[in-house]
Amino acid sequence: MKISKICCIGAGYVGGPTMAVIAKKNPNIQVTIVDINAERIAAWNDEDVSKLPIYEPGLAEIVAETRGKNLFFSTEINKAIDESEMIFISVNTPTKTYGKGKGMAADLKYVELCARNIADVAKTDKIVVEKSTLPVRTAQAIKSILHNTGSDVKFDILSNPEFLAEGTAIQDLLNPDRVLIGGESEEAIEALANIYGSWVPQDQILRTNVWSSELSKLTANAFLAQRISSINAISELCERTEADVSEVARAIGMDSRIGSKFLNASIGFGGSCFQKDILNLVYIARSYGLNEVADYWEQVIILNDHQKRRFSDNLISTLYNTVSGKKIAMLGWAFKKDTNDTRESAAIYVADHLLNEQANIAVYDPKVPSQKVYSDLDYLQTRSEEENKDLVETFDNPYDAVKDAHAIAIMTEWDEFKTYDWKKIFGLMKKPAFIFDGRNILNKDEMTEIGFEYSSIGK
Ligand code: NAD
Ligand code: UGA
Repeated sequence: MKISKICCIGAGYVGGPTMAVIAKKNPNIQVTIVDINAERIAAWNDEDVSKLPIYEPGLAEIVAETRGKNLFFSTEINKAIDESEMIFISVNTPTKTYGKGKGMAADLKYVELCARNIADVAKTDKIVVEKSTLPVRTAQAIKSILHNTGSDVKFDILSNPEFLAEGTAIQDLLNPDRVLIGGESEEAIEALANIYGSWVPQDQILRTNVWSSELSKLTANAFLAQRISSINAISELCERTEADVSEVARAIGMDSRIGSKFLNASIGFGGSCFQKDILNLVYIARSYGLNEVADYWEQVIILNDHQKRRFSDNLISTLYNTVSGKKIAMLGWAFKKDTNDTRESAAIYVADHLLNEQANIAVYDPKVPSQKVYSDLDYLQTRSEEENKDLVETFDNPYDAVKDAHAIAIMTEWDEFKTYDWKKIFGLMKKPAFIFDGRNILNKDEMTEIGFEYSSIGK
């Protein structure tokens, strides 16, 4: 089946970059990304591509090249569904905040709404592609909604999970380790494989059954997050034994069975997916009565929470057991470098803990806007919005943020932090001047030489 028109429901961190790359590599296919959020769509359509709603290296250039030619952003969801032969569902699937499975299961209401929308509007046969990360067996629910419309429209459902990481999304999409397509209908699978085939070698396009595909996505994130919790667990042991976690990571990473990637000890992983997807995996395992399996994976989250807490506890105890009234400058708020995304960023939880101890927090992040810092803290509902406003100040210049600070906490591994004038920063701070390097990006000897009291993770 030849596809000429694609629609993607959800213009977020996945829908936007993924469809931009599909459009770039398939100039003959018209790609329309739709969203209920009119403000987000307007930002995607902004003439000035530096104002796109998502910051990703390389994204603005691709949008500038394709937008208006074969890539379109719109709020006309029904029209786009009606006109397309293939529809990607790329909406958010957050952890449920209410009812059964609260705090654990994925909230599938947005996905279900999409399925119902497609069922209502479709007059011709459609291939529906699950791009969102979904619990294993979700395709069954989508199928049931689509197949009970009473019309004779035929729907094929495919699972095509996305493995891109934020900050490197465009590179990941252009050179994926693999593309995964799960489905029943060979014709539908090949239609999607052909689209990726414009730039991905066929032997890197895996075809599986739907359930393996859905479960592989949760499993991949669980394994990745597990590596971080594993090295973070060792980092605490290193701090007690005078071992150095970077040396340990290097030594074990050279074993080709272990591999060297994803072994950076940190303040704990953040981002919209690792925690959500593991909680979901734990919930699914428990719902099948597999308690040992559930407990095993839950420990990855428990350790991650411990790592965030340990970082702020250590900061407080080093500052003579009180941070009350002291200025703590946080460099970085995003959950990793090269993104403006702050979802589940460790910085939010460390700040919240320090605010409970009455610290004054100064935040500088190269890409995160001021209002996002406040809305992230307000969302926790730990204190009133007024109190957050009083205790937290944001800066658009790092040197202003660190002025008169008692300590600096490095929360994100932005490259620019390494090239700052650290002598000047030392001069601006209160003494003793402390640095808590939550990302191990600065050189201890250089910092100590300047006069800082420097500590990092796992050293
Ligand atoms: P996001 O919140 O950035 O974007 C989702 C978009 O869907 C929002 O703009 C929202 O307004 C829109 N939406 C919700 N319901 C809608 C509806 N009924 N009709 C139209 N639009 C609707 O989310 P995201 O980060 O792009 O994640 C989307 C999915 O992809 C999630 O399941 C996530 O787990 C998965 N995923 C995310 C990443 C990542 O790096 N962010 C990577 C791989 C997979
Ligand atoms: C992650 C996965 O890497 C993607 O493959 C997946 O598609 C995506 O989740 C998803 O499903 O959403 P992402 O969360 O964007 O991507 O970014 P990562 O690079 O995985 O980083 C996640 C967190 O782990 C960040 O806070 C990062 O700083 C931290 N991290 C990463 C470490 O602390 N140490 C490491 O060695 C690597």
